Amino acid sequence: MDRTGKIAVVTGAGGTLCSAIAEDLAAQGYRVVLVGRTREKLEVTGKSIREKGGTCLILTADVKNLEQMTALREEVRHEFGLCSVLINGAGGNQPDAVTTYNAFDPEELSPENKGRGFFNLDMTRFLDVINVNIMGTVIPCQLFARDMVAAGGGSIVNFASMNTYRPLSKIPAYALSKAGISNFTQWLAAYLAPANIRVNAVAPGFFLNDRSRKMLLDPDSESGYSPRGANIIRQTPMKRFGEARQLLGCVNWLIDDEKADFVTGITVPVDGGFLSDSGL
Ligand SMILES: NC(=O)c1ccc[n+]([C@@H]2O[C@H](COP(=O)([O-])OP(=O)(O)OC[C@H]3O[C@@H](n4cnc5c(N)ncnc54)[C@H](OP(=O)(O)O)[C@@H]3O)[C@@H](O)[C@H]2O)c1
Repeated sequence: MDRTGKIAVVTGAGGTLCSAIAEDLAAQGYRVVLVGRTREKLEVTGKSIREKGGTCLILTADVKNLEQMTALREEVRHEFGLCSVLINGAGGNQPDAVTTYNAFDPEELSPENKGRGFFNLDMTRFLDVINVNIMGTVIPCQLFARDMVAAGGGSIVNFASMNTYRPLSKIPAYALSKAGISNFTQWLAAYLAPANIRVNAVAPGFFLNDRSRKMLLDPDSESGYSPRGANIIRQTPMKRFGEARQLLGCVNWLIDDEKADFVTGITVPVDGGFLSDSGL
């Protein structure tokens, strides 16, 4: 397919996974819009794209902020034109929305307790995580699908997670939001099918990023993994964390209007077998 000049908007393009996706799309000839809140992170991806002869536009915005994203869409239309591919990679978790207990412990209800159980979670932080993952996907979909309607079609890829299928311990807000992504992906796929817009999601297994590297690795341990990292590796039949490049084939297939033109509403795990192993 000739991708030359087609416009792809990639949110979270300064991050671990979507920087690789943005660079790959640019290498295929897409004009890529790099979206995130921190310009410096996006500049790194942009520099790499331009050095290889690709074309990109760097725009900062908070994906859960309708006003900022509306202005961003106007700028994309003005600078580049109508978006035909949207990759919704912006998202994540935050420490205050994570419990320090795996399961209920009566001490979390004691006034002296310093830990964070479900009963001590700050609902504002909880909602922040829901907002960035859910509204940070819904808002770009609403804005850029409008362009796709005008262009006669398009493709959207959302970011789910292993939590979409079964919640991991300690991260209820993140798990809930990623379960919602799969549900919304199905809903929007059905809704936008008459407009020739396909909507799918990728569910990465465990890929190291700046945040998870600290949580999952421990250079002082014999294995090199923290206890949580070791648990994940034990549960992953391929016995390793994923690398961003290993998502490219899945994303490229999902956005391919010839090879995947009857594929919509699905969430595809790319997880080294994590979901296939019962752990027994
Ligand atoms: N890594 C994994 O193992 C894994 C597994 C399953 C799912 N995922 C999902 O895959 C996606 C990408 O993950 P990643 O590992 O590449 O994470 P990452 O390295 O932390 O990148 C996420 C990017 O999203 C941007 N972002 C966060 N909040 C934003 C907001 N409100 N507005 C605009 N941009 C925002 C961040 O940049 P700024 O902070 O500068 O805005 C960051 O560059 C996320 O949705 C994540 O939940 C990752």
